[in-house]
Amino acid sequence: MRPSLSVDIAPGRKNSLVLKNPVMPASGCFSWGQEFARHFDISALGAVVSKGVTMAPRQGNPQPRVAETPAGMLNSIGLQNIGIDACISDMAPIWTRWDVPVIVNVAGDTVEEFGEMARMLDGVPGIAAIELNISCPNVDMGGIEIGQDVGASARATRAAVRNTDLPVIVKITPNVTDPVSLARACEAEGAAAICAINTVLGLAIDVRRQRPVLPRARGGVSGPAIKPIALRIVYDIARAVNVPVIGCGGVGSGQDAVEFLMAGATAVQVGTATFANPRALLDVIEGLEAWMSANGVADVNDLIGASFRSA
Ligand SMILES: Cc1cc2nc3c(=O)[nH]c(=O)nc-3n(C[C@H](O)[C@H](O)[C@H](O)COP(=O)(O)O)c2cc1C
Repeated sequence: MRPSLSVDIAPGRKNSLVLKNPVMPASGCFSWGQEFARHFDISALGAVVSKGVTMAPRQGNPQPRVAETPAGMLNSIGLQNIGIDACISDMAPIWTRWDVPVIVNVAGDTVEEFGEMARMLDGVPGIAAIELNISCPNVDMGGIEIGQDVGASARATRAAVRNTDLPVIVKITPNVTDPVSLARACEAEGAAAICAINTVLGLAIDVRRQRPVLPRARGGVSGPAIKPIALRIVYDIARAVNVPVIGCGGVGSGQDAVEFLMAGATAVQVGTATFANPRALLDVIEGLEAWMSANGVADVNDLIGASFRSA
């Protein structure tokens, strides 16, 4: 018998979010989904997560926006996106035709904007949940500025939760001493789930030009280089909160997914791996299922937190 991969990432909520499997793209690494939908059947995924959307359309940061790093990459995209109105009018109607829930990643400049965007997305057909990006390291306002402050993170969560019946997932930054207190504060304000982690702040130097490679100097490191950091944060948060944790950071194989689930994640996101291997999401799903079959695990929920659950 095939193992059961189904998980619920918003249990007990008005709109719970049961996924056919625990694997979804990481925001910003899957665009709006259409490009990938031309190459494979995206209904095989647990969910789709959109690029971060802001109140107004954005051009993003000057080039270059990416740099290669050992075992990963550094990016400073700056939330280039079409804006929330176009997301609702042009993208959501397409998503209604897909047999996969779509989670919209939103990035407010202010706490109030997170509330306003949640209100705008509430009840829009084709949108199953909202992910608050309070952790983008590459913008001047909002993003990490909110996400590094426990009080502001809590206020952004509250502003969103009170304006929508959709499950609100809050995406946490690793660029703090104590991510657990951020997660706890967001849970207390009604977050349905916590996503951990966004990128880790980093820098690359161009020795010929004797200056940083990226025009804004700092960028966000992603890929296998950050997997141990993400695992540690997921492990710590999962033991501290009672809502599901979505693990993100360096996932590229079924084995990686198993590790995140055992660390306490209920689901995983796959980001940078999709750039080198556009099939990475499918490989993760197939690898997870194969691992479960080989190890006699009938239900993926039995893996969640296995590394710290008492026998
Ligand atoms: C090119 C690029 C763009 C990204 N854009 C967003 C975004 O719009 N919103 C967001 O919350 N995270 C964004 N991220 C962060 C990813 O969603 C993810 O948290 C991070 O890359 C770690 O996962 P990974 O190691 O699997 O890539 C972006 C990452 C990359 C590499």
